Amino acid sequence: MSDPGLRTILVSGGAGFIGSAFVMQMLASHSNLHIINVDALTYAGNLENLQSIENEPRHVFIHAEIQNTELMHRLCEQYDVEGIINIAAESHVDRSIQDASPFIDTNVQGTVSLLTVARDVKLKKFVQVSTDEVYGTLELDSKDLFTESTPLAPNSPYSASKASADMFVRAFHHTHDVPAVITRCSNNYGPRQFPEKLIPLMILNAMESKSLPVYGDGLNVRDWIHVNDHCDAIYRAYEHGTPGEVYNIGSENECNNLQIVKSILSILGKTEDLIQFVKDRPGHDQRYAIDASKAKKELGWMPRITFEHGLRETIEWYQNHPEWCEHVLSGKYRDYYSQQYHRER
Ligand code: NAD
Ligand code: DAU
Repeated sequence: MSDPGLRTILVSGGAGFIGSAFVMQMLASHSNLHIINVDALTYAGNLENLQSIENEPRHVFIHAEIQNTELMHRLCEQYDVEGIINIAAESHVDRSIQDASPFIDTNVQGTVSLLTVARDVKLKKFVQVSTDEVYGTLELDSKDLFTESTPLAPNSPYSASKASADMFVRAFHHTHDVPAVITRCSNNYGPRQFPEKLIPLMILNAMESKSLPVYGDGLNVRDWIHVNDHCDAIYRAYEHGTPGEVYNIGSENECNNLQIVKSILSILGKTEDLIQFVKDRPGHDQRYAIDASKAKKELGWMPRITFEHGLRETIEWYQNHPEWCEHVLSGKYRDYYSQQYHRER
């Protein structure tokens, strides 16, 4: 079914924030790649994100859930898929606090479904895109970093579902010899991030001079990385990662939430009285910070985008795409563009 000169990989979640960046970046930088992009188009997935590759023959979009094991199996055989990169997930901590069920369905069941296919079709590689949140939290005033041997201690239903998926990846590698690697990255920012996460929400609110809701005292720390640097690491893990291994990904860029919000306000020329301290997130992790030395050494990876540059560019992207924001929030684009793509269930 696919061109014999091309290598075909199945990417899940490729209509979301990181997945769409990954698909576009890979197609642009690897002319021999053919991508089967499976996405359920939840509230967070939009074909608008993939508009620039609408007519790209090396990209096939499949509207489906990764839990559909039979379809995933069929796609791998039909397109002679060599490996899977599992990016699909329910990704927002606050939503997982409201209702954990979709997180179990997609993050746990969905991952097991793709691992089962990888085992049965004997795929060459499986990359599980996980998160640093599986390690729990670090003390605010410490200099500790998460390493790959930090014990898993997830604190939110979201991170519990991701840690659970990681355990299944480990078990399928150990028991069935699935050649799987896990990446655990810190907080991403960049264009096309759904405006429920800190940075895009604060950009959009500040642009409209609405209040910026900062949880608790605003001193919780995250380690921010540009999405394109993360995508580069994911591909290197696919190409060079050793099966059974975990790779932490991060950009050595710790900031507390107040610093982020103040930077956004300053770039947009808005005043700090827009900041509104609101009730804290239950179980709010204090600090994440990544030691990415293993990925740098073993995958030959380096982050390239400075936070100062990346944040300005991200803000400009949101300023230049008001229709994306409006339509993504209302779900309009999802319905409109999905009619132009091949749909399969
Ligand atoms: P996102 O919410 O923007 O996108 C998730 C995508 O997965 C959406 O397109 C959605 O439609 C799709 N999806 C959801 N359920 C599905 C299902 N059952 N079957 C098929 N597709 C489904 O998320 P994101 O921020 O791009 O995160 C992507 C991955 O990266 C997640 O696994 C997340 O845990 C991980 N991660 C995210 C960050 C971050 O800061 N955003 C950091 C580290 C790791
Ligand atoms: O560390 C990686 C993780 O980063 C990913 O695995 C998750 O998918 C991703 O959502 C992100 O999780 P966080 O909970 O860290 O991201 P979020 O953008 O929701 O929040 C970042 C920080 O900002 C956190 O300390 C909570 C705070 N916050 C968030 C929102 C949405 C606020 O103060 N106000 C807000 O309105």
